[in-house]
Amino acid sequence: MGIVLGIESSCDETAVAIVASDRRILAQRIASQDEAHAPYGGVVPEIAARAHAERLAPMIEAVLADADIELFECDAIAATAGPGLIGGVMVGLVSAKALAMASGVPLMAINHLEGHALSPRLADENVVFPYLLLLVSGGHCQIVLVEGVGKYRRLATTIDDALGEAFDKTAKILGLGYPGGPAVERLARSGNATAVPLPRPMKGSAEPHFSFAGLKSAVLRAHQSGEHSLADIAASFQAAAIDCILDRLDHALARCGEVSTLVVAGGVAANGPIRSALEQLARQRDLTFTAPPLALCTDNAAMIAWAGCERLPLGQSDPLDIAARPRWPL
Ligand code: KG4
Ligand code: ZN
Repeated sequence: MGIVLGIESSCDETAVAIVASDRRILAQRIASQDEAHAPYGGVVPEIAARAHAERLAPMIEAVLADADIELFECDAIAATAGPGLIGGVMVGLVSAKALAMASGVPLMAINHLEGHALSPRLADENVVFPYLLLLVSGGHCQIVLVEGVGKYRRLATTIDDALGEAFDKTAKILGLGYPGGPAVERLARSGNATAVPLPRPMKGSAEPHFSFAGLKSAVLRAHQSGEHSLADIAASFQAAAIDCILDRLDHALARCGEVSTLVVAGGVAANGPIRSALEQLARQRDLTFTAPPLALCTDNAAMIAWAGCERLPLGQSDPLDIAARPRWPL
């Protein structure tokens, strides 16, 4: 059994967690910066980096105290090393390096996407390799065949916006504030999903990828026309997004070979109607469907610590001069 301290600082969540390889989250703290970024309608990298720098050290201290663990008792210190906003990633990674140097505990530089990709296995021990992963967040929109720890085959990505970004931009157009995803979902409940004709970009395409820029522009036009209620636009946007997801998953399932499990992760996985649609698709295809609990779907440090736990048996650690990477495909 091993214990890993995890640090996440790649976007606007400062998070620290301690996770054991038997899936127990021994302690975790998460500080959202939503309020700091809300006036700008999106994450401001400089503000994010400063906030991480202010908050991280006391949070690490607090999490160690919560778990009643000394740093040297950990088997690894895992930090997100990319992809993400580089200032924030550097704050987290440099903090982890300092801790590793002072304590002699090995450093693990974790790909944030790997954290999301493996998070369903932290939540549920029955999620076994290989599985098909739909990773949908503010910065990413991918379908990945997860064949093992470190074995990821990207089957599809977005050629423009990520799905979370499309939710956030739709929220901005409709004046719903930031972060947009939950606000759009809430408003969509009282709207008519067939009221506004919106495009389904890439639907039926022989290419495997996603595209949401055209959908966002259509939302803007629908809003400017003044013909539709905000709730109808939100509901129609969400329905179009779901159609696109299901179509792209169909495409991936036809090409990925044998899988028995479909998994969704990333912040957009918090969306109820999206989860239900995926559940239904899985039922039709005789697949097991799992989604991590909401707190593990959005950015968190437990998934980073867990990625470290998954690596412990492989004996992998990283050198202290490893660089932070703003871009880092899985
Ligand atoms: O994974 P995450 O916390 O951060 C990134 O790595 O991007 O995802 C944040 C994204 C935001 O775009 C947010 O609007 C979206 O996830 N999101 C949602 C919902 N909750 C969060 N999108 C749709 N419906 C939701 N309920
Ligand atoms: Zn994320």
